[in-house]
Order: sequence, then structure tokens, then C-alpha cells
Amino acid sequence: MKIEQDNYYNEISDGYNNLYKEEQDDKCKFIFSRYNWNELFKNLELKEKINILDLGCGTGISTLNLIEELNKYKKFKDKKINIILIDPAKLLLEKIILIEKGEMYHDPKMENENYTVIDLNEYELDITISKINMYGENLNDINFECDFLFSLTALQNVSNLNKIIEIIKNKKIKNFILSYLYRGKENELDKVIELFEKLEFKKLLKNNKDIFFVK
Ligand SMILES: C[S@@+](CC[C@H](N)C(=O)[O-])C[C@H]1O[C@@H](n2cnc3c(N)ncnc32)[C@H](O)[C@@H]1O
Repeated sequence: MKIEQDNYYNEISDGYNNLYKEEQDDKCKFIFSRYNWNELFKNLELKEKINILDLGCGTGISTLNLIEELNKYKKFKDKKINIILIDPAKLLLEKIILIEKGEMYHDPKMENENYTVIDLNEYELDITISKINMYGENLNDINFECDFLFSLTALQNVSNLNKIIEIIKNKKIKNFILSYLYRGKENELDKVIELFEKLEFKKLLKNNKDIFFVK
């Protein structure tokens, strides 16, 4: 099952953004407009460095939206922000073009809509980004800290969701937005919600396809 998923995402990597970017951007708009960023800042106020993890980041659409959102808030501008991008589909990760601050870089691939360009020069944030090609289930293999966990439309794909939930719980990750694609199948939701209850989420939001667990 796992291998099939990876193959699927690797196979569609050339068309992923074309197929899904608009939908994923809309999901970010939906959830970000309902998330309490001021409360997140309050939770992290005393921290100089904020560690963020995008689990199942794909081609980086979710991360790009997140950076654009954080950039709206003055409060995040005097923090160091460290973002780790995790995905098992190598070819999706390769679609992320990262341009560091001060770097003048042009690649013809940047004209191709199926690449996601994250140009840190465009933001007034002090950000470092790294990509890791791995399964979410193996998160404990890396030494990481996480103040804010973001996962957009990835958790329905994992073969051992319970394992990931236990990792998030044991790591005591206090702030998160986790979405799960349930495609409107209400009858499957009780079980999913029961699993996420272990994380003591504060809010549950739904659109027609996804359920979002928020803390
Ligand atoms: C629909 S895409 C979402 C990608 C990205 N978050 C976005 O919003 O565009 C689902 C992602 O989940 C990833 N995925 C599948 N199994 C996973 C696992 N076990 N752990 C972490 N990510 C996984 C896939 O490789 C794919 O990138």
C-alpha cells in the first residue's frame, strides 16, 4: 500500500501542481482564515527560534502558503523560523525550487507551473528550509523539534496513522493544523475523529472534502 502511494505520487509529480495547486491553495485560504495566529504567536512569544514541520509537503504548495501567511504578521519577523519539509515521494520534493536570501538564481524550470518556487527574498522573514525524503511514520528516526506542525491532505494516505498520532502526542507538539481528506464520507469520520482525539485538538473544521484538526 505504502509503495503504491509513493509510486502514485512520483508518477504524477510532473502534473501535480497543475492538477491540485488551485484546490490546495483554496484549502489553505479556508483554514488559515480560521486559525488564530495571534494565539500561536502568544504560545511561542518567548522563543527565539520557531520550528515548523510540513508533513507530507508534496511539491511545497502547503509550505509556500504557510510562509505567505506568516509573512503577514509583524510578530513573526523577529524570530528565526526553521521549516522542515517531509515527504516520501522523492519526485514531488524535487519539484520544490528553493532560493535562499541574497541568492540571485534563475532556472528555466521556474517558468514551469509544476515547480513550486520558494524565493525567500520575497519575504521579510528569517527562514531556513530543509527537505527530508521519508515517511511520516519514521519521524522518530530524525532528531527534530516542532513548535507548529502542518499537514495538508496527507494523513489519509499514511499506512499507519496511529503511529504518527502517537509520535505527535509523545513529542507534545502543542500547535498544529492537520487535515484529513474524507471526501464527504461522513460515515468514516467517527473513527478518524476518535484517533485524532488523542491529540486533544481544540477545534474541528470541515469543508466538503476535508476535516481539519486544529490546536
Ligand atoms: C495530496 S498530497 C498533499 C501534498 C501537499 N501537502 C499539498 O498540500 O499539496 C499527499 C502527500 O502525502 C504524502 N504521503 C503519502 N504517504 C505519506 C506518509 N506515510 N508520510 C508522509 N507523507 C505521505 C504524498 O507523498 C503526497 O505528497
